[in-house]
Amino acid sequence: MKIISRICELRNCLSEERQKNKTIGLVPTMGALHDGHISLVKRCVEENDICVVSLFVNPTQFNNKQDLATYPRTPENDFALLETAECDYVFTPTEKEMYPEPDVRVFNLGLVAEVMEGVYRPGHFNGVAQIVSKLFYLVEPDKAYFGEKDLQQIAVIRAMVKELNIPVEIVSCPILREAGGLAMSSRNRRLTPEQHQKASLIARTLKESTTFVPGKNVQEILDYVANTLNNEPVFRVEYFDIVDRYTLQSVKNWKETTDPTGCIAVFCGEVRLIDNITYKNKLS
Ligand code: PAF
Repeated sequence: MKIISRICELRNCLSEERQKNKTIGLVPTMGALHDGHISLVKRCVEENDICVVSLFVNPTQFNNKQDLATYPRTPENDFALLETAECDYVFTPTEKEMYPEPDVRVFNLGLVAEVMEGVYRPGHFNGVAQIVSKLFYLVEPDKAYFGEKDLQQIAVIRAMVKELNIPVEIVSCPILREAGGLAMSSRNRRLTPEQHQKASLIARTLKESTTFVPGKNVQEILDYVANTLNNEPVFRVEYFDIVDRYTLQSVKNWKETTDPTGCIAVFCGEVRLIDNITYKNKLS
């Protein structure tokens, strides 16, 4: 496994691989890797000749300075995990390398970027589009892998790829969960042991809510999830919405979509967690 921090070196290595007709897969990450990331890396290794993983905490996607400052950084552990997962190249640029000048590009990401995270984290998705488009230009991957915990991010990246006509296949991969059900996230490391234990109630509540479908209507499910979590002092639900899985637009009744999905953002203490669940199999 080769660890590279300079763009020119990455380009040289990958152009040699491409001359040998190798296919290239990319897993963009911000490091602090966990088993969820490693599942993406393993799939990338399986489906491509060459697997590139980027580790870069992208400042332009943080709308909150404190969140950027406290984002976990564990490079040595990340390198060890990637070596074991048989990654070929790790790209870990400095901020100056990725942004020698401020990136002022504004993307046209459409309605998928305007709801949920788009409302509560203004500018976040434009920052994601800035860094992911740069990575796509540098790596020119055949396939790129993203986790479904960030379901809206996947829709936004698909919109960006369409806008810019980037020839890459976006592969979306299922959420990995801890034993108690909590969706794996780098941010879980910031929870105290007590908060961590309580946080499994998020996934349990989402799962339980599926058992009431289709008997209860959309509004009843929205109220059930928000009230159950807000009744615990450690939680503050920022939003819970039931949306079409692909357009991310709210649905008012089950008939409006074939794939209704509940998406939540909830503060557990100071730590903001997101998760989602499908109701699709409850309606067929
Ligand atoms: O999902 C993430 O970790 C980040 O948003 C990504 C896609 C690596 C871009 O910085």
